[in-house]
Amino acid sequence: MKDFNDLADFSNDEIAVLLELAGRLDAHPEPVALRGKVLSLLFLSPSLRTLASFQAAMTRLGGGSFVISPEMSIHGLEARPGIVMDGAAAEHIREAIPVIASYGDAIGIRAFAERKNLEHDLAETEFSAMTDLIDTPYINMESAMGHPCQNLADWKTLDDFDIPANNGKFVLSWAYHPKALPLAVPSSTLFMAAKRGMDVTVLRPEGFQLPAPVMQKAIFAAEESGGSVRETNDRTEAMEGAHVIYAKSWSSTAHYGDKLGDQKLRENLIDWRVDDPWFDNARDDCRFMHCLPVRRGVVVSEPVLDGPRSIVIPEARNRMLAQMAVLHQMLGGAS
Ligand code: CP
Repeated sequence: MKDFNDLADFSNDEIAVLLELAGRLDAHPEPVALRGKVLSLLFLSPSLRTLASFQAAMTRLGGGSFVISPEMSIHGLEARPGIVMDGAAAEHIREAIPVIASYGDAIGIRAFAERKNLEHDLAETEFSAMTDLIDTPYINMESAMGHPCQNLADWKTLDDFDIPANNGKFVLSWAYHPKALPLAVPSSTLFMAAKRGMDVTVLRPEGFQLPAPVMQKAIFAAEESGGSVRETNDRTEAMEGAHVIYAKSWSSTAHYGDKLGDQKLRENLIDWRVDDPWFDNARDDCRFMHCLPVRRGVVVSEPVLDGPRSIVIPEARNRMLAQMAVLHQMLGGAS
């Protein structure tokens, strides 16, 4: 494996091999597999799980890692292209990224979307500009439109909980959040579930449709895998017979980059909080997933989040296992 940027770069058989490796590394640890290997981690956006799970993954495989983020850099890191650097920041990522990459055998980069212009974010303009600066293998730790590490862990979680691929009903639901959040998780989660062969329903209020290219990419994947993709704003219809609901908030695409327009639309949608009545016509064993972090009582009610439907903790642990498999393949792990 050269890079890990998008599940679309892998066949379903290759994903199955990665997930089998993840399970094997959990059951049979390989504490020296990556001895002497170093993973550079650049966080231009905040994190708990991604930061901790990559460091834990490298340590469990016998390698090491280091983290750089703008908050910890004494120089201050500038990311804007074409900027005259006469402000606080004394170092630009154009120098910082190749330098950081040169200290490791692979680099993970996290850089959320700018969320000013949808076409710009859909094109992954910033992320591509960064990865163009390096020759070492890289891992997308969440870019404007993608979160492949989360997607791989979620695929494993669906397998672990025996949620069927073909004929499995996956509801990706928008949920209320006070802020406009990126499209990376919902877009790439939709693709993951479609590629897995599931019947996917995107449940969202008006104004929060996922972008047409995102929907189209998922529809193509579903056609190949025997799944399906549709969207609705009707909760009862969406949840009928659902095996799993994956909740996530995202920005209004009707008001992308327009903070006030987005705010005005979402302030009437506070009742889009996943709660017990949502499951009335779902399967009895319908699961609740969320990538975390999640706002209790805002995105989801406490009884759902703390109840037996919720699989958010094993889902988060699978981040570490899935990434161990990626690192093992990428860095040539030897048992
Ligand atoms: N799910 C996820 O990526 O979590 P963090 O933002 O905490 O890394």
